[in-house]
Amino acid sequence: MNDSITLRRPDDWHLHLRDGAMLAAVAPHSAGFGRAIIMPNLVPPVVTGAQAAAYRDRVLAALPEGSALDPQMTLYLTDGTDPADVVAAHRAGIIRAVKLYPAGATTNSASGVTDFDRVRPVLEAMADAGIPLCVHGEVTDPDVDIFDREAVFIDRVLDPLRRRTPRLRVVMEHVTTSEGVAYARSGGDDLGATITTHHLVINRNAILAGGIRPHYYCLPVAKRESHRQALREAATSGEARFFLGTDSAPHADSAKLQPCGCAGCFTAPNTMSILAHVFEEQGALDRLEGFASLNGAAFYGLPPNEARIRLIRRDQPVQYPRTIAAGDETVTLFEPGHPLYWHLEDA
Ligand code: NCD
Ligand code: ZN
Repeated sequence: MNDSITLRRPDDWHLHLRDGAMLAAVAPHSAGFGRAIIMPNLVPPVVTGAQAAAYRDRVLAALPEGSALDPQMTLYLTDGTDPADVVAAHRAGIIRAVKLYPAGATTNSASGVTDFDRVRPVLEAMADAGIPLCVHGEVTDPDVDIFDREAVFIDRVLDPLRRRTPRLRVVMEHVTTSEGVAYARSGGDDLGATITTHHLVINRNAILAGGIRPHYYCLPVAKRESHRQALREAATSGEARFFLGTDSAPHADSAKLQPCGCAGCFTAPNTMSILAHVFEEQGALDRLEGFASLNGAAFYGLPPNEARIRLIRRDQPVQYPRTIAAGDETVTLFEPGHPLYWHLEDA
């Protein structure tokens, strides 16, 4: 068995860093990644190039000295997004992509798209300029069961949208179902899919069996075991279309531990140890570098990171705190439910 592997420095193609005291607390935990797509669902959301530039400055200021993280900013697509602003922000190097949230789909998505016809000019301009659209793929129709919302979104929204704007580059964010995996495979190199750390580890039992566990509640919600197996198979397949987007989404414990608690798992601190564990279980440690360090960069047209990291398997488990402090609040780390033995080091 391998007891040490060296990888190109990984990238995180889906990350929530928040703002203010929470940003200061969580950003250092992503400082070992290379590039990260920074999600724009602040309150209020990041909707203009000028706002993205200002947010980027705040992210950089929150990173420790010597941090590797190169934040790749995104704009939050709304019914009122100006195509010219998107193209100008991209041309100026301020943004890497645009994020589509169906209105009401998830945390802070109230400003999301309500009418896909209204955003068509933006999508056309993005297709022309080669700007990827990162899609939160869930319908918000209350009549659709929450466990079916990804599959229904693909049929009702994503596939029609891609047919109408065929040159648009699309990332299916945080796929959670075998249907999502299959649809990602139906595309060409214009279609990618991120897979989170936590969806490789938990199925829906983790949230609901033996008591309700708010720290495992995220969106899209974890599905049944067969879907988790489909995600593991996809992530470890070596296919270039699948890459890491942790969707690390920190929330104050005071906001999660409520009668109506918010969605999100905070995985930034222990993601690489968890992924090494998962890939080892799948007999695919040699494919971790593709998933975490190569495929996403290639999709976004960027070179792989030059620096390397090393993961070393030790007898002693990795020590990590149960919570971190964020201002006056605490944030609970994602707990995979078993010890982690793969220790992360700079190579
Ligand atoms: C994310 C958040 O908290 O911002 N929550 C989550 O459960 N993943 C929003 C999102 O990406 O859906
Ligand atoms: Zn997210």
